[in-house]
Amino acid sequence: MAAEPTIEALYLEDRTFPPPEEFRRNALIADAKISEEAEADWEGFWAKQARELVSWSTDFDTVLEWKLPFAKWFVGGRLNVSYNCLDRHVEAGRGDRVAYHWEGEPGDTRTITYADLHTEVGKFANVLKSLGVEKGDRVAIYMPMIPELPVAMLACARLGAPHSVVFGGFSSDALRDRINDAEAKVLITADGGNRRGSVFPLKPPADQAIAEAPSIEHVIVVARGKNDVEMVEGRDHWYHELMRDASPDCPPEPMDSEDLLYLLYTSGTTAKPKGIMHTTGGYLTQVAFTHKYVFDLHPDTDVYWCAADIGWVTGHSYIVYGPLANGATSVIYEGTPDTPNRDRLWSIVEKYRVTTLYTAPTAIRTFMKWGPQEPEQHDLSSLRLLGSVGEPINPEAWVWYWQHIGGGRCPVVDTWWQTETGAIMISPLPGVTTLKPGSATFPLPGIAAEVVDEQGNRFEKGGGYLTLTRPWPSMLRGIYRDPERYQETYWSRFAGRYFAGDGAKVDDDGYLWLLGRVDDVMNVSGHRVSTTEVESALVDHQTVAEAAVVGAKDETTGQAIIAFVTLKGGIEHDAAHGEMLREHVAAKIGRFGRPKTIIFTDDLPKTRSGKIMRRLLRDVAEGRDLGDTTTLADPAVVDEIRRRSQTSPTEE
Ligand code: WT7
Repeated sequence: MAAEPTIEALYLEDRTFPPPEEFRRNALIADAKISEEAEADWEGFWAKQARELVSWSTDFDTVLEWKLPFAKWFVGGRLNVSYNCLDRHVEAGRGDRVAYHWEGEPGDTRTITYADLHTEVGKFANVLKSLGVEKGDRVAIYMPMIPELPVAMLACARLGAPHSVVFGGFSSDALRDRINDAEAKVLITADGGNRRGSVFPLKPPADQAIAEAPSIEHVIVVARGKNDVEMVEGRDHWYHELMRDASPDCPPEPMDSEDLLYLLYTSGTTAKPKGIMHTTGGYLTQVAFTHKYVFDLHPDTDVYWCAADIGWVTGHSYIVYGPLANGATSVIYEGTPDTPNRDRLWSIVEKYRVTTLYTAPTAIRTFMKWGPQEPEQHDLSSLRLLGSVGEPINPEAWVWYWQHIGGGRCPVVDTWWQTETGAIMISPLPGVTTLKPGSATFPLPGIAAEVVDEQGNRFEKGGGYLTLTRPWPSMLRGIYRDPERYQETYWSRFAGRYFAGDGAKVDDDGYLWLLGRVDDVMNVSGHRVSTTEVESALVDHQTVAEAAVVGAKDETTGQAIIAFVTLKGGIEHDAAHGEMLREHVAAKIGRFGRPKTIIFTDDLPKTRSGKIMRRLLRDVAEGRDLGDTTTLADPAVVDEIRRRSQTSPTEE
């Protein structure tokens, strides 16, 4: 049967950006050789990367054992991740290099060299040991963005105790469920952290969680917020007190390549969070590889900043493990981009002379909404490369980022990956790839992705389901204690393929364009339209900063497109404006994509990781009671939207 595109490809973007000559001249990869090499022998290619980028205490004997869907990489190899991130740099005489420029939200700063980090991690590993933590024990971490967070992760890695970092914005219930699923023995937390000008408590919700988490024997508390906390005698300990007399000497535990490095829970669509398992050798290889080549890392001169939270996989792979394995100098910032003012990020870029900035489309669209006068107050000339991750980036947001942050000289790498993939999978190589705004371009060397139809047939052009067709070193090894759910969730929809849940289209030149989650695809009069393309058409209008589109039940067309639109700062809206936007979309992508209704709103409901929650907007659009709102960053936003949708929609 001939393969048939299953999602329409409506949006045409024809701007192209070849690598700037200056950038290309100094790029680590400036031609297609590495990709050709990887295609000729992908297992051999990964083996070479593993030996080049990672130090093994025992070399591996088998590159890959693949019994679909279970993979083992670099079998027989032994290594320690914290040794790779710390000791080997210090041993090579690079102990004085800055690992982290840390900036607290109130403006306090710390400069932490590789030697400092090595000492601190050794001491803290001994502290954990003294509390009974042994190889294989799980440790839960619930912390603000302070240096003790990577210290805690690396100390766990040093002992071979898998960590489970729970994002500091999660509730006590979420923390409790994750501790219980992992049966963590120790919890590392803080009194509180700084966010948007005030202290948010962590120890109090942690106490609530522990009350129903019987596996926890000890709690270690970093003093950061200086908020009042209760300490339970014998169970709770202050970090600084335990550290005072700890010895820095703690030999790294040689781990098997396939030993568990960490668990990271994703909520997904069903209630019970999935404990995504990442192991040691393959994970470190692919995060080091991608961090080095996607960000074209020059460790002597670059100052790299991934502005995500370490509580997400982005922070695990691209604030902690990738950059440290590569001996990079990074920035960590504790707080929000609007504290004290909306130029905070740009003041940090200027202050530390940041060369490489990695952030999310949601942040970029927020900066668009705030306006270019914020970055314009600062000297951003140190920047040479920009990255994006987390959602499809609308072409217009891409171009805004390129122009107003990158000054028109920095390539923008749009990196597609997931908690489950562990590392970047689809992305430009900035010294090689001609960029198209909104496209993540091609699979990286060693990675194979294909777009398929409903039946799993591959096609060369058009929209459908994004699948991965071979194992990769940093792939999830499973869902913790639930191999069936692993098989069922990722490997059952299309035989022999990993299905990521995302739609994508392939264009005439073979470029990949992510189209959002396939669950969000709308069916309008029999046309399968992606939310991403309609949103991009809206953001294409000069007055629009951000848009979220959903399909709501409709008697005549099956589903009707409802658009929630945020305009750029200061722009007034009325019915005529809505009508103009509807026509703009029709002109850009055709009549099928034209929203039936436009609702203007100052904000959109988002998860704490910045993804738009279309499910809630669908509830609003269809007049239903709201489902679960507990993962919402700001619950008040939905009430506001509901009010707007009842009073001022622009309709056909
Ligand atoms: C989902 C994974 C990857 C680390 C942060 C999110 C979406 C991610 C892109 C991109 C289009 C993207 C996908 C993916 N996504 N990056 N560059 N273009 N979509 O990790 O929370 O596991 O989310 O984020 O839908 O499946 P996550």
